[in-house]
Amino acid sequence: MKIIKVHDYAEVSLNAGEMILEKVKQQSKLVIGLATGGTPIGTYQCQCLIEDFKRNQTSYKHVHTINLDEYVGLNVEDRHSYAYYMRTRLFNHLDLPHEQTHIPNGVASDLVKECHRYESVITSLGGVDLQLLGIGENGHIGFNEPGTSFLSKTSVVELSPLTRKANARYFNSLDEVPSHAISMGISTIMQCRQIILLASGEKKAKILQQLLSGQVSEQVPASILKKHHDVTIIADQAALENYHGDYLVGF
Ligand code: GLP
Repeated sequence: MKIIKVHDYAEVSLNAGEMILEKVKQQSKLVIGLATGGTPIGTYQCQCLIEDFKRNQTSYKHVHTINLDEYVGLNVEDRHSYAYYMRTRLFNHLDLPHEQTHIPNGVASDLVKECHRYESVITSLGGVDLQLLGIGENGHIGFNEPGTSFLSKTSVVELSPLTRKANARYFNSLDEVPSHAISMGISTIMQCRQIILLASGEKKAKILQQLLSGQVSEQVPASILKKHHDVTIIADQAALENYHGDYLVGF
């Protein structure tokens, strides 16, 4: 596990954007796993992705994207859905073909079947080359809450009260936050060839310290990443303020 410590959110975004752009340019076929939430917004907007496309027209026609999760009950037109988030914050600004962007369908009539379909999409694409992750304040990755089995595949998950509260800022009220989501499983995430986890701000300091200094435990879903062979954490000093251990690259 490598940790890149940077000054602030802008630098987190820029470092992540650079790593993604490099892959886009390097590989003739690329599957990128994408995350939502507040943290990756800067990565999508930074001079390496949307701004780079405006300036240099770096093409994404050879790229497929796999999103981590989607709320159950929200359709693609709902402005709170992750499908809407991805279209407006990234996809509409690149030349990425729509049919190459994949997000679980949160309004599928058979949600269990939808989870199996999503796993087969990932398999048929040959797996994910580079997965971007954020981290919840309770250590969730995707929407895999504490207690989720490390062996989990894409499934319907119940959101914890803490996660619903944290995400209520995007909705009009806490009541509007869906209770369930479809999330890529932890074992699915672990199969991705390379993983970048982003963390910014003091709100993430406690969980980051727990992740980096604590045991690998299903109570801290992100802790399994210590067992992955290619994980880079890009975090700012506020998020790393409680951690003074090993692996640090940066200042
Ligand atoms: C959300 C998402 C995660 C995200 C996390 C942190 O609920 N499902 O993929 O990484 O919570 O969100 P934020 O970046 O807004 O702190």
